[in-house]
Amino acid sequence: GLKMVTIGGGSSYTPELVEGLIQRYDTLPVRELWLVDVPEGEEKLTIVGNLAKRMVKKAGLPIKIHLTLNRREALTGADFVTTQFRVGQLAAREKDESIPLKYGVIGQETNGPGGLFKGLRTIPVILDICRDMVELCPDAWLINFTNPAGMVTEAVLRYSSIQKTVGLCNVPIGMKMNIAEMLNVDPERVRLDLAGLNHMVFGLNVYLDGEAITDTVLRLMGEKGDQFSMKNIAGLGWEPEFLQALGAIPCPYHRYYYKTREMLEEELEKYRSSGTTRAQVVHRLEQELFEVYQEESLDVKPKQLEERGGAYYSEAACRLIDSIYNDRRDIQTVNVRNNGAISGIPADSAVEVDCVITRDGPKPVTVGELPVAVFGLVQQIKSFERTAAKAAVTGDYSTALLAMTINPLVDSDETAKKILDDMLKAHRDHLPPF
Ligand code: G6P
Ligand code: MN
Repeated sequence: GLKMVTIGGGSSYTPELVEGLIQRYDTLPVRELWLVDVPEGEEKLTIVGNLAKRMVKKAGLPIKIHLTLNRREALTGADFVTTQFRVGQLAAREKDESIPLKYGVIGQETNGPGGLFKGLRTIPVILDICRDMVELCPDAWLINFTNPAGMVTEAVLRYSSIQKTVGLCNVPIGMKMNIAEMLNVDPERVRLDLAGLNHMVFGLNVYLDGEAITDTVLRLMGEKGDQFSMKNIAGLGWEPEFLQALGAIPCPYHRYYYKTREMLEEELEKYRSSGTTRAQVVHRLEQELFEVYQEESLDVKPKQLEERGGAYYSEAACRLIDSIYNDRRDIQTVNVRNNGAISGIPADSAVEVDCVITRDGPKPVTVGELPVAVFGLVQQIKSFERTAAKAAVTGDYSTALLAMTINPLVDSDETAKKILDDMLKAHRDHLPPF
């Protein structure tokens, strides 16, 4: 049997993961699931852990759930390690999202200044986990969900000695589901070629039963794109002629780049009227979820979890682990070392691309050159991620300032410095010294 460890085990998403493991038990026999958290998260860990135990019991499966604050004990002899932790909890997210707004800039906890700071807080911790893994479970796979997943994967690949790592996101699977729903067909009939970076991935071709239908999908997105987003991203519609001209299918997060003004208005409006950002919405949702999780009679994943942005998260995680373990060689879209798959992106950088999933890890499918209209933005974001990762490992102020200023959501060097200084102060408890 397998030993799996989930760091950030007290997350409200954990029941999702447990449900996936239960469903796949026949082919993925996880015998031990260790849920690890930090002392601040102990209460949540206990509640979620008890629900996980009830779920497993109801399913009648011999999966042993361990709850611990001792990460090193958990990691010893692990086969798969998944990470879904949030340094500084939701209070830090609230700062990531609201401080930039005060300067008229979208915060966004993965793509904007918020993403930079989430990266600065997270990367030192993930590198610490990697050092533990080298010592305690050198053969394990590290499957990272912690955002900014692209930047974090980049940091692991370039600054740790762990190479058996994959960054994972639900956006690729969510895009496929959205397209199937748009076409009103079974998702199994849809093939979507994806390439780019995390939260910056494009659908290059769509096929329905083998027939290329990219133009049809672009037209439908132009007509009713407002109905297809993710729970955490305002579903503003797309300009139909722009989509036709682009010729590639943007992901929900592309609204931050192609509709910066409208997205900023949307977020400012909420912030001005109620003082809230997505962090508060999630906070309330979590309070509700943890109420429900405590009900002794609950032994399945509750419905309310669907209000989070992480739909299909468990599907993505369990399918990946299952394909590695069983050497399935199917194609999944994950974050891995580019290795030449996308031309013009450094070989050692993380990209989000279609990969053949083997027991020896994901093998990226060659993409070649991206369409000229999207290539520049992908390169720009990669430059931002590389600079941000460097800032996180060096603690160098000018590198952090550089990352902040070259982020496309930040429109002025002066504002960049103000936001940086403000955020460095606000987050100082969770950051290495800069
Ligand atoms: C999407 C993204 C995740 C992100 C989530 C936020 O699913 O792919 O990377 O964490 O949205 O959702 P939340 O409910 O926390 O706002
Ligand atoms: Mn994601």
